[in-house]
Amino acid sequence: MQKKNHMTDHKTRLAVFCSGSGSNFKSIYQAIAEKTLNAEIVLCLSNRSQCGAMEFARQQGIAILHITEKQFDTFDEFAAEMVKQLKDARIDNVLLAGYMRKVPDAVVKAFPDKMLNIHPALLPKFGGEGMYGLHVHTAVLEAGERESGATVHFVNEEYDKGKILLQRTVPVLAGDTPESLAARVLECEHRLYPDALEKLLTLQKS
Ligand code: GAR
Repeated sequence: MQKKNHMTDHKTRLAVFCSGSGSNFKSIYQAIAEKTLNAEIVLCLSNRSQCGAMEFARQQGIAILHITEKQFDTFDEFAAEMVKQLKDARIDNVLLAGYMRKVPDAVVKAFPDKMLNIHPALLPKFGGEGMYGLHVHTAVLEAGERESGATVHFVNEEYDKGKILLQRTVPVLAGDTPESLAARVLECEHRLYPDALEKLLTLQKS
């Protein structure tokens, strides 16, 4: 009888952290189904209970966790509960997809090289604290850049500084507004994050 290899059978268990419309969350969810990636989203975590991502997760029957610092007496308790919930759900990888909060260091430490973030620009440029959403695209336009793009990187304790896993460019067009550039970058993100996830799964297998 052939021995079952439990390592290769294991479906990677993902938690996706979101705060907004959740379009990246949806594209990852769809890509997992279409590309038959050996992974499943088992938890959607958000600081906003009613955001688009949480609504989508509810519709798909994915477990949700609404957790914010405000629910706890101290930041450390908040961070410890986050780690506990992720460990209890046996999460292998965390994907930040438009999560507009800094992930507590304790959570980052609990998932070394196992947490990814998507950033709507070509890191290392246009990253760091305060660089999120339209602020990023405004800064890119003000700098007169001819190209922008999206970056998926590993998360470490420093904002947007972890090792880059995958990056793709889009042109900046004459007459672009922060909104029009954001829309072009977001479209790029929707292909990039699933590809980055695929790359991560391959790396983790080897
Ligand atoms: C995305 O553009 C993502 O790159 C950005 O927020 C948007 C979320 O959209 N993230 C950041 O700016 C983090 N620094 P979504 O909720 O539709 O996926």
